[in-house]
Amino acid sequence: MEAIVRLSGAERSYGTGFRTTALHPTDLEVRRGELVVVLGPSGSGKTTLLNLIGGLDRPTTGRVEVDGEAVSSLPPAAQGEFRRRKVGFVFQFFNLIPTLTARENVAFAVELAGVAADIDGLLREVGLEGREDRFPAELSGGEQQRVAIVRALAKRPALLLCDEPTGALDVETGKQVLALLARQARDEKRTVVIVTHNSAVAALGDRVVRLRDGKVVTDERNERPAAAEELAW
Ligand SMILES: Nc1ncnc2c1ncn2[C@@H]1O[C@H](COP(=O)(O)OP(=O)(O)O)[C@@H](O)[C@H]1O
Ligand SMILES: [Mg+2]
Repeated sequence: MEAIVRLSGAERSYGTGFRTTALHPTDLEVRRGELVVVLGPSGSGKTTLLNLIGGLDRPTTGRVEVDGEAVSSLPPAAQGEFRRRKVGFVFQFFNLIPTLTARENVAFAVELAGVAADIDGLLREVGLEGREDRFPAELSGGEQQRVAIVRALAKRPALLLCDEPTGALDVETGKQVLALLARQARDEKRTVVIVTHNSAVAALGDRVVRLRDGKVVTDERNERPAAAEELAW
């Protein structure tokens, strides 16, 4: 299978003089259609890695390629354009726009991406029929995360990047959200990267990459990924 993400010596550090290295030089490939779980404690570089892949950040040195584009060398405007076209992001705290309804939150993202989407159909598919006109504050955490997932998916991105997507959810709701994310890889053949500090989520992945202190310490293939419902959480 072909790689959709390729990091070559990608490194990210901060500051001058005494520098903090959030991610040490990293080589990593993600294949198209793969469901990768990146596991690591707080501060291990998970968000840094995800933001480099998604073009929200640039490596200090090294290179990041996604879907044949050298994201790390694109000028800022082109980087934004790349993100809008190819990447869907899902975050721990949903990041919905509070003054827009569920439908409007999705519609806004769809407009930015310049694509057509059956927004109500997608909201229905994730069990949000009847909730389309509610504002985020009128939805439960799990419902808000499902709106955020629909928002990320409506533009049919090649790559879905999820940063602690279940971090703010209870166990049952978290499993439902993971089931929805896993379905994107299994049924829709999307590439999905889930970053988490929760080791119970590891069994869901086709592959588990463990990070510690900004370094990949293990990278293992999982021959029999578990269903979200089966996770020992
Ligand atoms: N903007 C920043 N400035 C300075 N240090 C940062 C910045 N962002 C992240 N770091 C540092 O980089 C390391 C990795 O952070 P991060 O990728 O957010 O880890 P994780 O998502 O695994 O919790 C941490 O030590 C963090 O303090
Ligand atoms: Mg983080």
